[in-house]
Amino acid sequence: MNNDILKTLYSEEDIKQACQKLGQQISEDYKGKTPIVIGVLKGAIFFMTDIVREMDIYTKLDFIDVSSYNGGTESSGSVKLIKDIDVDVNGKDVIFMEDIIDTGRTLKYLKELLADRGANSIKVCTLMDKPEGRVVEVKADYVGFEVPNEFVVGYGLDYDGKYRNLPYVGVLKPKIYSDQ
Ligand code: XMP
Ligand code: MG
Repeated sequence: MNNDILKTLYSEEDIKQACQKLGQQISEDYKGKTPIVIGVLKGAIFFMTDIVREMDIYTKLDFIDVSSYNGGTESSGSVKLIKDIDVDVNGKDVIFMEDIIDTGRTLKYLKELLADRGANSIKVCTLMDKPEGRVVEVKADYVGFEVPNEFVVGYGLDYDGKYRNLPYVGVLKPKIYSDQ
């Protein structure tokens, strides 16, 4: 699997430091509150579990799953709810945990969904932000890394369902796409 990677963008150590920094920042911002932290499956699972353990506040955890990509490297443009959260967010403070924001469509959909349900506040924390990919206007409140417009895998992010378990974030060798 490691042989398929052209270059490492963020090492395990880089990611650990980003989680510590963002976790501390969120703890300060939410002092005295108990935010509901919602991980966006499946890409955010590793980021979510690492970052919440860097927070020194009470949190409640939940997960949501939506689809916008069809397993390839291009966004399909439509967002569909696949698995909903279990908690009632009415009047609650919510923080979404995302792996990466690209076109912004997923996040826009998610923010609107919970705003309609009466969440008191909705913030977004993402490991990576790809500002060049933006199609709809949406901003993250906490960002680990701003990434160039390349397709990245690892640490939760996949290509065709694979590479999520790479402990770092990297760029795939072009031959991997062309062989498909
Ligand atoms: P949008 O375009 O809605 O996309 O902001 C958000 C979701 O798209 C996936 N995505 C990627 N997945 N490498 C990936 O493995 C990438 O470079 C990439 N860019 C976007 C991801 O699931 C994200 O939650
Ligand atoms: Mg995702």
